[in-house]
Amino acid sequence: MVRRFEQRPIPDGVLRRVLEPARHAPSGGFSQGFDFIVLTKPEELAWFYRTTDDPTDPDPFPGRQPQLAPACIVIPFANKALYLDRYSQPDKIQFGMDKEENWPVPFWNVDTSMAIMLILLAAVDEGLGAWYFGITRGEQDVLRELGVPASSTMLGVIALGYPSPQEQPRGSVFARLRRPFEEMFHFGRW
Ligand SMILES: Cc1cc2nc3c(=O)[nH]c(=O)nc-3n(C[C@H](O)[C@H](O)[C@H](O)COP(=O)(O)O)c2cc1C
Repeated sequence: MVRRFEQRPIPDGVLRRVLEPARHAPSGGFSQGFDFIVLTKPEELAWFYRTTDDPTDPDPFPGRQPQLAPACIVIPFANKALYLDRYSQPDKIQFGMDKEENWPVPFWNVDTSMAIMLILLAAVDEGLGAWYFGITRGEQDVLRELGVPASSTMLGVIALGYPSPQEQPRGSVFARLRRPFEEMFHFGRW
C-alpha cells in the first residue's frame, strides 16, 4: 500500500488500463456483480475526503494532507442483485440461490474483492501507488449523494496516484511479522 501521493493527475489512458482488469475478475455464475464509482475531479475528491474524514482517527486522512492526497478514488460496490438475478435464470434456478439466505458465502463480496485486487495489481504495473482502506464515517452520506442502489454494498475505498517521494513505508505490515508459509499452508490437513 502507498499512502502518500504526488499531486499529479493520472492520464485517462493509464486510469482505464488500471480499471479494465476488474472487468475480468472471476465471478460466481459469471454474474459480474461489481460496480465502481470513480472520482477524479478536485471538487469530487474534496467532497469525498470532507464527508468521510473521521476526526477521531489518529491516522492522517487525505483531506488533512491535501499535498499528499491521491489523484483518484475508486469506490467498489458488491452488487448482490446481479447474483440473485443470475441465479434465477434457467441454468441456475435448481440451486435455490435466487434467495440470499441460501448463499453459504456471499460471493458478491468475494468476487468484488477479487476485482479490487486486480485494480491494486494493475496500478503497480502502471507505475502508480494504490491504497485500500476502510472508512468509519460518512458512508450513508456517500451512498445517498452518489445515488448507489440499495442492493449494492460499499466494500471500502481504493485510492490511486503516483507515489510521493515523501512516501514512508508504514502500516501494520511493518509492525507485524508475515506469517510463515508452513503455518499458513496446511498440506493434507489442518
Ligand atoms: C480489508 C482491508 C482493510 C484495510 N484497511 C486499511 C485502512 O483502513 N487503512 C490503511 O491505511 N490500510 C488499510 N489496509 C491496508 C493494510 O494495512 C495492508 O494491506 C497490510 O498492512 C499489508 O501491507 P501491504 O499491503 O503494504 O503489503 C487494509 C487492507 C485490507 C485488505
